[in-house]
Amino acid sequence: MGDSNIKLDNLWLPFTPNKDFHQSPRVFTAADGMYFTTADGRKVLDGVSSLWCVGAGHNRREINEAIYKQLQTLDYATAFQFGNDRAFEAAQMIAALAPGDLNKVFFCTSGSEAADTAMKMALAYHRARGQGHRHVFIGRERGYHGVGFGGMSVGGIGGNRKLFGSAMLPHVDHLRFIHDPVNHAYINGEQPEFAEDWLLELEQRILPLHDPSNVAAIIVEPVAGSAGWYIPPKGYLQRLREICDKHGILLIFDEVITGFGRMGKPFAADYFGVVPDMLNFAKCVTNGVVPMGGVVCREHVYEAIMSVPTPAHVIEFSHGYTYSGHPVACAAAVATMKLLAEEQLFERAAIMGPVLGNAVHAAIKGLPHVISIRALGLAAAVELSPSDKGVGARGYAVFQDCLKHGVLVRSAGDNLVLAPAYVVEKAQIEHMVDVLAQAIKRAA
Ligand SMILES: Cc1ncc(COP(=O)(O)O)c(C=O)c1O
Repeated sequence: MGDSNIKLDNLWLPFTPNKDFHQSPRVFTAADGMYFTTADGRKVLDGVSSLWCVGAGHNRREINEAIYKQLQTLDYATAFQFGNDRAFEAAQMIAALAPGDLNKVFFCTSGSEAADTAMKMALAYHRARGQGHRHVFIGRERGYHGVGFGGMSVGGIGGNRKLFGSAMLPHVDHLRFIHDPVNHAYINGEQPEFAEDWLLELEQRILPLHDPSNVAAIIVEPVAGSAGWYIPPKGYLQRLREICDKHGILLIFDEVITGFGRMGKPFAADYFGVVPDMLNFAKCVTNGVVPMGGVVCREHVYEAIMSVPTPAHVIEFSHGYTYSGHPVACAAAVATMKLLAEEQLFERAAIMGPVLGNAVHAAIKGLPHVISIRALGLAAAVELSPSDKGVGARGYAVFQDCLKHGVLVRSAGDNLVLAPAYVVEKAQIEHMVDVLAQAIKRAA
């Protein structure tokens, strides 16, 4: 999939086994609709919306034109001390889309920055209310909140933490992971129901250990995406909300993957009927076309920080990025949100989700090595047992095999994830599932 004219020597690829990559380079040179073109001219069906980003499909004219128009009008404007019209428009649209009174938008350029921004907001909020002693953050095992030191510390994927253990933030704890591989290995379109209370440990061990009065925020992905699409038990997020309310702890939903339609609703908060105090977004907000992330927080979080009496020249929240509210990113976000609404793509994701879930379960359940299949919203994960070569080796081999057969799936350890764009057709779903099934059958 490489091309001898492309010199590979100088680029260090992120989250990629670089040595192996150089043995068999994978290079995309174009994309349109549901398909990539590779450097050697092959078509590849994008089964993962390019890292969960391209909800509306690739190369959308409406977004491209909005970006071009923006470039010709206001290409960039200093972000500090000034706003730009497109940023206000994008923020207004996001606030209108977000549930409850989540209505103050702070822009950054990635999901990692969104995690750090939300954590800082939580500290500033408590301090503004005279509770600066609230300094403990609670994440969840196998959670992913990007690669900044804040997000990495509350994150819970061992492999991402291993090299950097000595530099992890202190005062962080983790909820247990939400998965029962015995009784709820197969999930299709609904949340598992448990007799056991997964949050008892939070109430009986973690909070008493730190004392709830010291806890600033709990951060979770409503559905654990990067770990491999692990679905919260029924009532789990509601109970988390109640516990946070009881103890004055802020609840942060990291919706970098689930936001902007993946669940067939604008946000997972809508899908599960739970409004967090802060909601992190990125990826699909611009259809992945221009980097953008952000945090939308509830009125009371913003108001508390603003209510601190300060002289006119003093900044209330000393935080921000050169590219916060970049006009080109905001133009892409505005055009993306219009497109998602005009083409009713949230509704389409809701319709295609069960098509994917049913196809994956029908074709793959019972195949060799398959130990779990989980589908909810427009995403599904197939979990394979690890091979003798180590955790992730079998998943990586299946990913490579699928690619050889023209379908991009995502491997997360031994999970193979499908999360196509919302514009995906039934036949394309059937094809990607079939290619995955054949690859699993061939896997050693
Ligand atoms: C839930 C979640 N949070 C944060 C991030 C980090 O986003 P970024 O890679 O844009 O920094 C990701 C990326 O996949 C994510 O899935």
